[in-house]
Amino acid sequence: MEVYLDNAATSHPKPPAVLQAVHEAMTTLNGNPGRSGHNRALAGARLILTAREQLANLINAGPPECIAFCFNCTDALNTAIKGTLCVGDHVITSLLEHNSVLRVLSTLQKRGLIDLTLVEPEPDGAVSPARFRKALRSNTRLCILTHASNVTGAIQPVAEVGRLMRAAGVRYLIDGAQAIGHLPVDVQALHCDLYAFPGHKGLLGPQGSGGLYIAPELPLRAFREGGTGSSSDSMLQPTERPECFESGTLNLPGIAGMAAGAGLILSSQSEHMARERELTHQLWEGLYSLKDVSLYTPREAPSRVGVVSFNVGDRSSSEVSDYLSSMNIAVRSGLHCAPGAHQFLGTLKRGAVRASLSWQNTPDDVEALLSAVRAIMA
Ligand code: ALA
Repeated sequence: MEVYLDNAATSHPKPPAVLQAVHEAMTTLNGNPGRSGHNRALAGARLILTAREQLANLINAGPPECIAFCFNCTDALNTAIKGTLCVGDHVITSLLEHNSVLRVLSTLQKRGLIDLTLVEPEPDGAVSPARFRKALRSNTRLCILTHASNVTGAIQPVAEVGRLMRAAGVRYLIDGAQAIGHLPVDVQALHCDLYAFPGHKGLLGPQGSGGLYIAPELPLRAFREGGTGSSSDSMLQPTERPECFESGTLNLPGIAGMAAGAGLILSSQSEHMARERELTHQLWEGLYSLKDVSLYTPREAPSRVGVVSFNVGDRSSSEVSDYLSSMNIAVRSGLHCAPGAHQFLGTLKRGAVRASLSWQNTPDDVEALLSAVRAIMA
């Protein structure tokens, strides 16, 4: 039997309600929202509006127009970063970020367009808000922080950093790739201006879906330009929100599935979180009890999501994951597209084995992984 523990890469299985919503979007509906006036196009437009409302509700965004649909979290981060920065700006971010942030910023830095400060995490795996405050300069325009590390699962002090950035008048973007659907997200309480999220991880939707919360009135240039179905007489990008950030035909089936997943989360978030916490506890403590296992995920339950990274003895992470795969246990190995996190952990060379849980896993799944690790050690 397959044991799927790679939910941080993409969640599996997708619940029946998600599959049904995708199917309906491609059959019963299947019109291009905002482009035509026939029944299918209108039904598609209604679906888009309902999905926006659902997602806005999930993250306490306020008006649904604050949600722009994107093609994944990387696309949302690019939209936020490239729509914000100007030549000469300074950006503060952490060493823990995914390449969807680090590569975008490093490229701009290399081209001499921006200055960049990378804040290192503390030994417990979380960044210190005080270090973010110290990094502020007169030209700091943007601060970016991951809600939870995709390598260690460590939850970051996103609300505290948000409070500091708001007081300093610096725009604040949170990467919610590993948090949405796993933690309660309230963009007001986090003091953020922008919150990027994928649809296919914690929200249980299809790949190729995601979104960006954009605070009302926040000035933001459109990163992608093209047809929006509005102001079609103009050769310039329109300014109506959120359409100005959504050029090109939307991923209607993806959005339908993501919204159905968000509905499931809204109805049972606390139950799902409690289950994920229990499974993470079982996995962490089980690995900790094994001699020769190095763990990179914090021990304390409130400070981590259901992502547990480790290595076994001096084996490479890919050797371990290949063995697990041969036992039909799916995990991820290597560098997880976050080189700074591995630099911090000292695992740049061999990477780390990452098991990532969802509320859909069972204690038996965790036990299967633990006994396979025991077998590797034997
Ligand atoms: N960014 C995803 C991960 O961390 C794919 O696995």
